[in-house]
Amino acid sequence: MYLDTFLKEGTSRSTLAGNEFLERDDDTTGAHTVTGKHFTPVRTGVIGLGRFGKLHALTLAGLAEAELAGIVARRPESLREFDTLLPGVPGWTDLDRAIAESDAEAWIVACTTAAHVDVTRRLLKAGKTVLLEKPISGDLEEARSLEPLIEANSANLMIGHIVLFNSEFLQLCDEAQTRGPISYIDCVRHRPASIVKDFAGENPLHAAMVHDLYATQVLVQRAEPSHFSLQYHRTPTGAIDLASARLSWDNGPVATFAASYLTPSGMPPRGFDRMEVFGDGWASRISPNPRPIELWSEQAEWPMALEIRADPAGASGMMAEEQRRFCRVVRGLQPVPVGATYGDAIQVQEWMDRLERSGKGPA
Ligand SMILES: NC(=O)c1ccc[n+]([C@@H]2O[C@H](COP(=O)([O-])OP(=O)(O)OC[C@H]3O[C@@H](n4cnc5c(N)ncnc54)[C@H](OP(=O)(O)O)[C@@H]3O)[C@@H](O)[C@H]2O)c1
Repeated sequence: MYLDTFLKEGTSRSTLAGNEFLERDDDTTGAHTVTGKHFTPVRTGVIGLGRFGKLHALTLAGLAEAELAGIVARRPESLREFDTLLPGVPGWTDLDRAIAESDAEAWIVACTTAAHVDVTRRLLKAGKTVLLEKPISGDLEEARSLEPLIEANSANLMIGHIVLFNSEFLQLCDEAQTRGPISYIDCVRHRPASIVKDFAGENPLHAAMVHDLYATQVLVQRAEPSHFSLQYHRTPTGAIDLASARLSWDNGPVATFAASYLTPSGMPPRGFDRMEVFGDGWASRISPNPRPIELWSEQAEWPMALEIRADPAGASGMMAEEQRRFCRVVRGLQPVPVGATYGDAIQVQEWMDRLERSGKGPA
């Protein structure tokens, strides 16, 4: 079952390093058996059953590393609707009861952004490990309020910076690491013009460009930029339909970003994404959206936007990879990847804050 229609959007990580972790031959991690490549599936619950929460739940159900232990939504209708997709998963509309009554040891938080911090705080206080969808919060100070609950190296909180787990981006990181310093990064992420009307008030800086910012954070190994600038373009009614940003690093690269709601209806339904990276004697380009499957009937179609196949019979793509990594984090087999720690998410929120304050953000 391919569920991309639910989507509105869209370190060094060498294969060898990954195998090193997988081959570790611990006997136990806490109460869970870990032998060679095998560990007890992580009993994981999902909070929020909107577009992204459903994808998470169906993907979890298709992973060998995890067991979908429960689902939580605000309304019973949402639980009933999910039951038609995947019957028999225990569900709750009360988070505290879900924490107390379910046997989930880890949770994916994919509810409305406004509830992220409250929900995550309750889970962390209950000793659970959390994969929290981005952003932590719409408000930087509220996001910072979680800090006292975060363990060293963000071991109990991973942020759902999903683009980090796209296979081409993983390869690009490896190439960048072996080929030397980066001079220029250029990212474009264009989404349909209809979003301006359908999701009024949505800012492409926060909804779309954020993905390129955290991906860039990984490429520059968390270095802090020395220059921030941002310009918006607005529709005649004042809505933001383009965010154009520039970051640069002293003695380091220049990076430019465009995120828009400008693509016409004849283009692929989720618009298109491209990242180009230039170094000394090398250059690379990835085009992760749409995926390179094309289909023609009465008209051209791009049936797969992002690299996500949420199939309970066997999930694949970047969400599956993100969840696999999360399971290894829960079992203590891997650290939270660079770009997905709590501190990384705060740094990227600070970058967006600096961009907005750089003079040309919204009044
Ligand atoms: N990483 C990415 O690329 C990406 C892409 C899309 C979305 N996201 C993030 O994922 C999150 C969800 O987005 P969405 O588009 O799926 O949202 P959505 O369609 O609006 O769905 C929100 C869901 O959260 C549930 N919910 C709200 N408050 C809750 C609470 N206090 N406790 C439990 N459940 C609650 C709602 O329950 P009811 O159904 O019962 O009302 C609903 O099922 C957002 O934070 C968004 O930023 C990330």
